[in-house]
Amino acid sequence: MKDLNNKVALLTGASSGIGAVIANLLAQEGVTVVGVARSKSGLNNTKSIIENLGGEFHGVPFDISQTSKLSELKVQVTNAVGEVDILINNAGIEEYNYFQDYDLEYIEKITTVNLIAGMELTRQFLPQMLDRGGHIVNICSLAAKKGESFNATYSATKGGLALFTDALRQEVHGTSVGVSAIFPGLVKDVGMYSDSQVKAPLILGTISSNKVAGAVIKAIKKDKPDVIVNSGPLRPLLAINALFPNFGNWFARVTGIFDFCRKRADLGE
Ligand SMILES: NC(=O)c1ccc[n+]([C@@H]2O[C@H](COP(=O)([O-])OP(=O)(O)OC[C@H]3O[C@@H](n4cnc5c(N)ncnc54)[C@H](OP(=O)(O)O)[C@@H]3O)[C@@H](O)[C@H]2O)c1
Repeated sequence: MKDLNNKVALLTGASSGIGAVIANLLAQEGVTVVGVARSKSGLNNTKSIIENLGGEFHGVPFDISQTSKLSELKVQVTNAVGEVDILINNAGIEEYNYFQDYDLEYIEKITTVNLIAGMELTRQFLPQMLDRGGHIVNICSLAAKKGESFNATYSATKGGLALFTDALRQEVHGTSVGVSAIFPGLVKDVGMYSDSQVKAPLILGTISSNKVAGAVIKAIKKDKPDVIVNSGPLRPLLAINALFPNFGNWFARVTGIFDFCRKRADLGE
């Protein structure tokens, strides 16, 4: 999809963090953005920032963990703005913890918000995209490339989302639907890491939300499959880890990644 002007995008998690920044950048490209999240005030905030810059944003307060009602969200969105050209599954939650200390309710919740809701939204919107073209972007994480200790529930959901993206991309090959996965590292300015009391290990570094939003736009325009957004040269290390996981585990320990994750669990982040 080379030109985004006058397209319609449905973006989950648009009330704050990276989602609000993606919404803004999409709007600057001439996209009508429909942002979904639970917080009305957060959506209103995103709306006023975008409208002050001359863009168009519609906030739809909705809890995407109510997956059986996502078909109703589709009707609501279609009535408001017509058919959707771009779906961005960005909403997500995480909580570092010792795996045995998570309760089942949380495991079900994170799986629903981070994985199942995106799959169900895709199922709802894919038929119209197959008819008229479209693009789906799933916001994963580096934790989908290498599991993060003390963040096993999150890693599982993001790994699942990454493989869902990979499978779907192959399935729709040859149609006018593109499917991309974005793998951001730690984002410093907004979002779930920005308030952390634990400093990022040097090897991971941090990135800006603008860099992630820019990667989303580029993935749609150039139909990119997987996009890693990180400050350091992680790609070769991830390739070595895929061949030698014990090396990857050792590397995570000696570079402070393991301690970083444990500290975040100890602090209840
Ligand atoms: N920040 C990072 O360093 C980083 C790194 C890699 C990947 N990511 C991924 O990037 C995405 C955005 O993260 P972020 O850092 O921007 O987090 P954030 O600031 O906590 O924002 C999360 C967004 O998801 C929405 N959300 C959560 N639960 C929802 C629900 N049940 N229904 C509807 N919306 C819901 C939130 O809105 P409401 O609370 O208003 O519902 C909010 O808009 C996530 O998928 C995250 O995993 C983030």
